[in-house]
Amino acid sequence: MSEPIRVVVTGAAGQIAYSLLYIIANGEVFGKDQKLVLTLLDIPPMMGVLEGVVMELHDCAFPLLTEVIPTADPAVAFKDVSAAFLVGAMPRREGMERKDLLSANVKIFKVQGEALNNHAKKDVKVLVVGNPANTNALICSHFAPSIPKENFTAMTRLDQNRARAQIAQRLGTDISNVKNLIIWGNHSATQYPDAANGTANGKPVTDLVEASYLQSDFVTTVQKRGAAVIAARKMSSAMSAAKAAADHIRDWWHGTESGRFVSMGVVSDGSYGIPKDIVFSFPVEIKNKQWKIVQGLKLDSFARSKLDITTKELLEEKEEAMAVCNGN
Ligand code: NAI
Repeated sequence: MSEPIRVVVTGAAGQIAYSLLYIIANGEVFGKDQKLVLTLLDIPPMMGVLEGVVMELHDCAFPLLTEVIPTADPAVAFKDVSAAFLVGAMPRREGMERKDLLSANVKIFKVQGEALNNHAKKDVKVLVVGNPANTNALICSHFAPSIPKENFTAMTRLDQNRARAQIAQRLGTDISNVKNLIIWGNHSATQYPDAANGTANGKPVTDLVEASYLQSDFVTTVQKRGAAVIAARKMSSAMSAAKAAADHIRDWWHGTESGRFVSMGVVSDGSYGIPKDIVFSFPVEIKNKQWKIVQGLKLDSFARSKLDITTKELLEEKEEAMAVCNGN
């Protein structure tokens, strides 16, 4: 059994964290032989609720969980952490403009970037779940200059899991037989779910599923899945978001198997002609805790037009976020 590592979950009193904490503490992310200290960050009004979450974590009697630290202080929450799940964010309220939401979240992720910079381990792996996730990850990295940019990522794994589920259901096959579907771009309705390199039972998805579906209903179903869950459940995706966050960090920690890739929002290095320095979802392979963008995949003119749309949105978000940072 190795020494405990410290892991922080923000938004720890919220609904995604309620599912996520169980998965982490049960050893399903960092391994069944990795002891954990969990630090739980939320805002001061939520400390009472958080106390209830702490009670339940104790009552689960997880063998790997050595300590749980609830706090409203980022300096305490981020101290010596090896992994950070940044789930907490300002939710969109009725009548709120996209700009207001972005502005509120830029402020949160600036504070958390600074706290990571000052208190976390320098090799900390950061996953931003809170929306707008890609731009929040960019801001967080911007305010944590002592931590490599590669260590900041945004979650598009839920979108990837949704895409796989759609194809598996359509083909009537187990989800484990469906591989290498890609989410390009922003975690928003402009993302491009791409099946062109996907396989099902070892065969190209494009040979098994009609192009008319892959270019229309498949894309819009995945893009709008979050809204469909809200319409049905009256609350946003939480169990599936928690599972996806766990999948993302587990693959980053332990690596991806050969020939299989996953989608992550990462800082663009210019691959596939995407402008540098935006957090863009790419297909990546992971070895020794380092991700690498999969190169050489073909993009037809349809795919290219979709990538242009999501790139434009991310550039606009970046500009608005930077204006907030610069006090404009
Ligand atoms: P929730 O509203 O149930 O919980 C959010 C928690 O964050 C609350 O307890 C709140 O007090 C806390 N919080 C707010 N500001 C904070 C701060 N500065 N520091 C620490 N905690 C803070 O929301 P839920 O359902 O858990 O969702 C969390 C976020 O995840 C939302 O932004 C949501 O849009 C996003 N999301 C992202 C997905 C993705 O695929 N990237 C999928 C689903 C949700």
